[in-house]
Amino acid sequence: MNSAEYTLPAGFAAQLVAWQATAGRHGLPWQHTRDPYRVWLSEIMLQQTQVSTVLDYYPRFLDRFPNVASLAAAPLDDVLGLWSGLGYYSRARNLHRCAQAVVAEHGGSFPADAVLLQTLPGIGRSTAAAIAAFCFDERVSILDGNVKRVLTRVLGFADDLAVAAHERQLWALAGELLPPHEAAHTMPRYTQALMDLGATVCTARKPACTQCPVAALCRAKAEGRADAYPVKTRKLKRSSASHWVLWCQRADGAVWLQQRPDTGIWAGLFCFPLFDSLAALQQVLPGVPDSGLHSLPAFKHVLTHKDMHLHPVVCTLAAETAPQTAGQWVAEQGWPALGLPAPVRKLLSGTVALR
Ligand code: ADE
Repeated sequence: MNSAEYTLPAGFAAQLVAWQATAGRHGLPWQHTRDPYRVWLSEIMLQQTQVSTVLDYYPRFLDRFPNVASLAAAPLDDVLGLWSGLGYYSRARNLHRCAQAVVAEHGGSFPADAVLLQTLPGIGRSTAAAIAAFCFDERVSILDGNVKRVLTRVLGFADDLAVAAHERQLWALAGELLPPHEAAHTMPRYTQALMDLGATVCTARKPACTQCPVAALCRAKAEGRADAYPVKTRKLKRSSASHWVLWCQRADGAVWLQQRPDTGIWAGLFCFPLFDSLAALQQVLPGVPDSGLHSLPAFKHVLTHKDMHLHPVVCTLAAETAPQTAGQWVAEQGWPALGLPAPVRKLLSGTVALR
C-alpha cells in the first residue's frame, strides 16, 4: 500500500495557515515563544488535559521552575506536588527525567530536531514534531488524536488505525500535506492551525463544517460522513478493582499518608493506605473495635484502563497511636504541597461525589 491511493488536496496547508491567522487561537501563554523548554512543558501538560486546566497550572509551574536546569535540580516530590491534580503522573516523572537528560546529555539545551527530541523521556513522535515545528521551523508533522481525526476526514482515510501499517501510512500522508520547503517559516502557524481546527471546528461530535477553512476539500464532508472517521477498531481492554481506603485521622486533623511505590498505580504519590478487603484493613488497626470505624459510601474512580471502586473507611486515632502500616502523619498545612491522587485530594477537600 502507498499514500498514492489518497488524493492530496491542493492548497490544504496554505488555507490552514491563512485561517489560523484570522480564526485560530492566539492568546495562549505558550504561544509567541520559541523557547523549547516552555513549548515542551505546555505540550506535555496538554496531553490528556484541557487547555482551561493547563492555563491554571502552567504559570505556577514556570514560576517555580523557570528553566530546565531548575527543574532538573528539584526533588521529584516537588515536581509531583506541583503536578498534583493534573493526573497521568507518569508525565511528571518523565518530565523530571527529561529535564535531567537535557542537562546531563545535551548541555542544558533541548536538541533542535524532532528525531533527537524523540529520544528523550516522555517525548513521543507527535510531541517531538510539535516542539521542532514551533521552535525550529522544522518541516515535520504532528499527529495526535485530534489531528488524526482532521486528516482522516479530509482525506477520507477509512483504513483501520488499529493496524500499525495504516497508522504509518497516515503519518506519511501527514508529511505530504506539510507546507512546501520554501514556506518552512509557516510551520509554527500550520502546526497551531491543525491543533486549533481539531479542537474548535473538526470536533469529534457535531463538527462545525460551516466554519471549516478546508470544507471544500474534505472527503468526509462530501460523503456526509464526518462521524465515520477515524476508523479504529481495537477497543481498550478495561478491568476493575476494589480497594478499601484507610482514612486515619488524628484529633489535631493530621492524616496518615503512605508514599506509593515507584511503580504501579499512583507511583510516588502520597496516598491513604489501600487494602484488598475490609478484613485486611482492620488488621493494621489492632485494638480498634468495629464501632471505631466509619465506612463512607463507596465511589468509582475511572482510570484509563481500570475502574477503581473505592471504599473509604474513616478511623480517628488518639495522638500517640498510629496504624501498623508504612506511612507518616501529615498535618493539613502539608497537604497542598504533596502529590496526592485525585480521589485522595477530593476526599480530603470534601468534594468527592460519594454515592
Ligand atoms: N494541544 C496540544 N498542544 C496545544 C497547543 N500548543 N495549543 C493548544 N492546544 C494544544
